[in-house]
Amino acid sequence: MLIIGCSKGRHIAQKVAKKAKTSYSELGVNKFPDGEIKVRIIANVSNKTVVLIQSFYENVNDCIIEVIFAAKTARDLNAKKIFLVAPYFPYLRQDKRFNSGECISIEAIADIISKYFDGIYIIDPHLHRQKSLSNLFSIKAEKLTANPLIAEYIQKNIKNPLIVGPDWESYKWARHVAEEIKCSYAILEKKRYSGRKVKVTLNKKIDMKGIKGKNIVFVDDIISTGNTILETAKKLRKLGAKKFICIGIHGILVENALQKLKKANINLITTNTIQNKTSKIDVSGLVAKYVKP
Ligand code: R5P
Repeated sequence: MLIIGCSKGRHIAQKVAKKAKTSYSELGVNKFPDGEIKVRIIANVSNKTVVLIQSFYENVNDCIIEVIFAAKTARDLNAKKIFLVAPYFPYLRQDKRFNSGECISIEAIADIISKYFDGIYIIDPHLHRQKSLSNLFSIKAEKLTANPLIAEYIQKNIKNPLIVGPDWESYKWARHVAEEIKCSYAILEKKRYSGRKVKVTLNKKIDMKGIKGKNIVFVDDIISTGNTILETAKKLRKLGAKKFICIGIHGILVENALQKLKKANINLITTNTIQNKTSKIDVSGLVAKYVKP
């Protein structure tokens, strides 16, 4: 087996190869002045199972082209099987035609990946209307979750937590983590008006008693502009909450999200599915368990 670290997956791929005791190589990637990219497989892949590790952020579309080119090349060079590990996989939020004529991106991207790979592993994919990866991909597709790592982090570092999921979709993370550490939780409701504007409301059924003495721990899969968390904190402040920590799996962090959260006294922790200053939870061990030589 050979693990290949693509441009946005190297930080995890090297650690995975070490933990799985398997060989590692970097994907050569060059960008031309006009924006085209060229990839090069450096190691010998003939007759080997190849695992490409790539996260998809910053230049998301370049990241996609990179793995397609790499998989096509590995196939040409007689790789036995080709898998993709995606610590963060993009385009999953566009899972329906919200407005007429829109592309259902989740389906288009799954079709392309299914054509070039034998299997895909995704850490905490944002599945909402689509319930399972196997409904989308025509290849073996498995979901891994960082929930146990988040639960462990909270247990070690945060006293007296009250876990809050900002919207219904976040229950898969917030509720599961809370159940794992046996602490109370609340799942709120959110209405999204645009990519930047959301409104969070408290569900009447929620019991927020004792909120004042708690460390509020927001748990969500994606932190992008940070607006969802900022809005949620605003609501809870009115109820007397004072201390906020936010644990996100995928820290996309665009439009000064980190600065905005800091300014609102919200301490952000993320995993390293996307590498940044807030990545305190390492997912390489999780991937290594699945990648067996
Ligand atoms: C969407 O439902 C996700 O679970 C996140 O809540 C969302 O993507 C966060 O985006 P932002 O940080 O831009 O509010």
